[in-house]
Amino acid sequence: MKELDMPLIEALKKYGLKDSTRFHMPGHKGKKSVHIIEELEANLFNWDVTEIPGLDDLHEPSGPIKWAQEKLARLYGADSSFFLVNGASSGVIAMIGACAQPSDEILISRASHKSVLSALILTGAKPVYVMPEKDENLGVYTQVTPEAVANALSQSPKVKAVFLTNPTYEGFCPDLESISEIVHSQNKVLLVDEAQGPHFAFNPSLPRSAGGFADSWVQSPHKMMTSLTQSAWLHVKGERIDKRRLKSFLKFVTTTSPSYILMASLDMARSIMEAEGRALTARALELADMARSNINKFTAFYAVGREVQGKKGIYDIDLSRLMVNVSAAGYTGYEVEKLLREKFNIYAEYADLYNVYFLITFSNTESDIDRLVKALATFKTKGKISNSIIWPDKMPNAAIEPRCAFYTPGEYLPLEKSMGRIVKDALVPYPPGIPLLMPGEVIEREHIEILDRLLKSGGRCHGVTDEGFLQVIIETII
Ligand SMILES: Cc1ncc(COP(=O)(O)O)c(C=O)c1O
Repeated sequence: MKELDMPLIEALKKYGLKDSTRFHMPGHKGKKSVHIIEELEANLFNWDVTEIPGLDDLHEPSGPIKWAQEKLARLYGADSSFFLVNGASSGVIAMIGACAQPSDEILISRASHKSVLSALILTGAKPVYVMPEKDENLGVYTQVTPEAVANALSQSPKVKAVFLTNPTYEGFCPDLESISEIVHSQNKVLLVDEAQGPHFAFNPSLPRSAGGFADSWVQSPHKMMTSLTQSAWLHVKGERIDKRRLKSFLKFVTTTSPSYILMASLDMARSIMEAEGRALTARALELADMARSNINKFTAFYAVGREVQGKKGIYDIDLSRLMVNVSAAGYTGYEVEKLLREKFNIYAEYADLYNVYFLITFSNTESDIDRLVKALATFKTKGKISNSIIWPDKMPNAAIEPRCAFYTPGEYLPLEKSMGRIVKDALVPYPPGIPLLMPGEVIEREHIEILDRLLKSGGRCHGVTDEGFLQVIIETII
């Protein structure tokens, strides 16, 4: 047989052999910590099937998929739950699609995941933005307050639904109880992106799950539990959401060949958490606490903890996520992330200019934490890096809706020549990971200055090429 040439397999093999310390997704960390995961692995090809008799149909479930989804709904206190094989992203699109017709207004946090933009483009819904608070010391935006939601709703009374994220990438949670009272008292729908919080329901030391408050919420158990990458689930409760419309949208964003391996991994993740969720989340919290206190004791860095709760828009915090501020010790997050990876074989989840983020689940071990703390302890304090969040106070001017911007032809221009033009792609600088401009908004001088400063100081911006070009609308067309 001819020698096989498989670049991706080669790369995966190389990573798999490295015995890396994994603080990135997925939550299983490449380990078979529970017996049933071994069974899934052993049957990978055997169970990779299609909708044959006896195995049900995700699009019209009436057998084992239906029963598995019913168990899931019971566990999370939902009326109905749905397996997703195209990530929480597809659930975000379906939730918004269920509530919004073209031109309907949706109130969204400016710090939403990019799948919200896909939903806006697909549905033609009109975004009304609410800004989260910020923490200048950490150099990040935090969460949306109930006051900000109430204020935005009073200014935009036609809003149909409010879309929030619980938690943010940093682990910050909003006051969902107060927000749901505001939203529901005005007969509007509350949608929550809980992609990063599927474990919340299992431990009172974790923030409260959206399940107690939202009309629909989506979760990615591959992030903080043991299901396979790309699997997710969606829950719905109460009468405010048109369930038939939700199901139609789910069909719209779901392949006609859903993977039984992904669905099996969802059933497995649900079952593991149902049996042992409390103990497993307690284990993750214990490991994260160990990391946090040792980082604060033995390294030059600051691991963010409970002390930020109740301040600057942070109503609650998921302490199984580990956010380490490195800028106060003179490092960029990018620098530390790279050194950890290259020198210590430790993989963080993510880094921004000021911070590095580590996802800790029950599949991590004490030895992972020990390696991380020892590696971080080798960094000596340098001068402080300024964390100022250089962001305009006023919301940009929206010339056209995101959907219109998507369908209008564009051209690439150098950043410095783009003033006054309408952006075609979202411009999302990291940090703070909040769109500076959404598609259809107008570029002003201050946006160019902000981007220029940010890129020069080592930050990155989605929507700006390495050569400093961005895509704008060809205006003779609109
Ligand atoms: C807050 C949030 N929402 C949605 C998503 C999308 O989830 P998925 O990757 O499962 O599609 C992510 C992914 O990181 C996320 O962080």
